[in-house]
Amino acid sequence: MAGLAVNVDHVATLREARKSNYPDPVAAAILAELAGADGIVVHLREDRRHIQDRDLRILRKIVQTKLILEMASNNEMVGIALDVQPDVVTLVPEKREELTTEGGLDLISYKDAIAETVGTLQDSGISVSIFIDPDPDQIKVAHQINATMVEIHTGIFCDAQTTKKRERAFSDIVDAVKIAHKLRLGINAGHGLCYNTIKIFKGLHEIDEFSIGHSIVSRAVLVGMEKAVKEMLILIKNL
Ligand code: PXP
Repeated sequence: MAGLAVNVDHVATLREARKSNYPDPVAAAILAELAGADGIVVHLREDRRHIQDRDLRILRKIVQTKLILEMASNNEMVGIALDVQPDVVTLVPEKREELTTEGGLDLISYKDAIAETVGTLQDSGISVSIFIDPDPDQIKVAHQINATMVEIHTGIFCDAQTTKKRERAFSDIVDAVKIAHKLRLGINAGHGLCYNTIKIFKGLHEIDEFSIGHSIVSRAVLVGMEKAVKEMLILIKNL
């Protein structure tokens, strides 16, 4: 059965909307773990629009499952990761003007620089996942540069506006998962997944973990964090 890593960024988004000290993503992480989450994810962005350094450092002390840090591959973030020692780093592309991460890392264009980051992090004992589009060529490069795992970008599938586009996007995901599995890479999937879109992954047992944030935090606002996480866990268990 695939695991569920819960991204608590948007609890911090709500806090930062008023620059208050609540709601606390740390409290949300505790509740998510109590509900059965297999990991906690935060994206420390260069502009600190939601998660703050303080959140990451407290989470490192209190997360009991696995702390996954999403970050850009740059000197500042590598320094923070080496200092904080999350269990996993997921390397993502980052643009200041984007609403959220908009696509996977382009490993073909940035192979050498990303390979160096992967090596530095792994040498310090951190597992490294790379967020990439469901593209066979990108997956092959992830394997060549010794990434521990890949996270397949599911956003194109989730955002597809027509059945044809949706089917095409899902077929690309299936192909990407099969190739990554053949190359013995760990396989995560995420971005844009919700309580409906998750159901299509039934039978795709090669996926090790789903990384889900916005839909869970949105539901948690209405029904509470533990219930929102438990409902997603049930859906994942039935895949
Ligand atoms: N995976 C990655 C690499 C992401 O950047 C994000 C968004 O922070 C997610 C998963 C979670 O996406 P969502 O919030 O849409 O569930």
